[in-house]
Amino acid sequence: MKQKLIVGNWKMNGSLAANAALLQAIKQGLPADNKAGVAVAAPAAYLAQVQAELAGSAIGVGAQDVSQHEQGAFTGEVSAAMLKEFGVRYALVGHSERRQYHGETDAVVAAKAQAALSKGITPIVCVGETLAEREAGQTEAVVKRQLAAVIHQVGHCVSELVVAYEPVWAIGTGKTATPEQAQSVHAVLRAQLAAASAQADRVPLLYGGSMNAANAAQLLAQVDIDGGLIGGAALKAPDFLTIVAAAQ
Ligand code: PGA
Repeated sequence: MKQKLIVGNWKMNGSLAANAALLQAIKQGLPADNKAGVAVAAPAAYLAQVQAELAGSAIGVGAQDVSQHEQGAFTGEVSAAMLKEFGVRYALVGHSERRQYHGETDAVVAAKAQAALSKGITPIVCVGETLAEREAGQTEAVVKRQLAAVIHQVGHCVSELVVAYEPVWAIGTGKTATPEQAQSVHAVLRAQLAAASAQADRVPLLYGGSMNAANAAQLLAQVDIDGGLIGGAALKAPDFLTIVAAAQ
C-alpha cells in the first residue's frame, strides 16, 4: 500500500515554548515502527526552531507559504531559497486562507508551486470549493480549475506535487466532508493528474478540513485519500498522534 502522509498546518499559532513542548510530545509519541510520512508546517518565524527540534527525526519541516519571486524588493516575503536553508521539505501553496485573505489567484499559486519546486521543496497545492460553490454544483469545476493552473505551470514536474483537497466550508468549522464526498472529489483530482502525467499515481492526495482523531481513520480508508492536512487537531499532540496512528 502507498505510504500515507500526515501534515500538520499550525497556521498562525504557537510560541517558542509551546512549539518545543508539542514537538517533543510528537517525537516521543510516534510509534517506533511508524510507516506514515509526517511533517509540520510552522510559521516562518519558527522554522529555525522547528528544524533544530526535528533534527535527526523522520518528521519533515514544512512552511505555510512561499514567495513566487526569487529575491529582491518584496517586503515581508520569504523565498524558496531561504526556506531551503532551514531544511524545509514542504511548502503549502494556495491554502484557502491565502486565497481568501491575501487575494492569491490561481496564477499566483501556480507560480509559488513552481518557485518551491525550483529549489527542491515539495509544494502542497491546496484546492477546494466554498459552500456557495458546492451548493451551486461547481465543486468539480472549481477544484479542476485550481489544479489545472498548477499542472499547466509545472509541466513535467506534476508527479513531484502533493495535492490537498480542502473544502473551504470544512476548514476550522468542525464540519468534515463525509468520506464519500471527499473520495468523490479525490477521484476527480486523481483522474486530472493521471491525464497530465504517467506517474500521477505517486502524487499524495491529502484531505483537509476538520480532520480529527475521531474521523481520520474513515477518511484515510478511502482509496484516493493518501493522507491529511490537519489544522486545529495538529496543535494537540495526542490528537495529531492518533491521526498518524490511523495512517499506518
Ligand atoms: P482544520 O484546518 O483541520 O482546522 O479544519 C485544516 C487546514 O486549514 O489546513
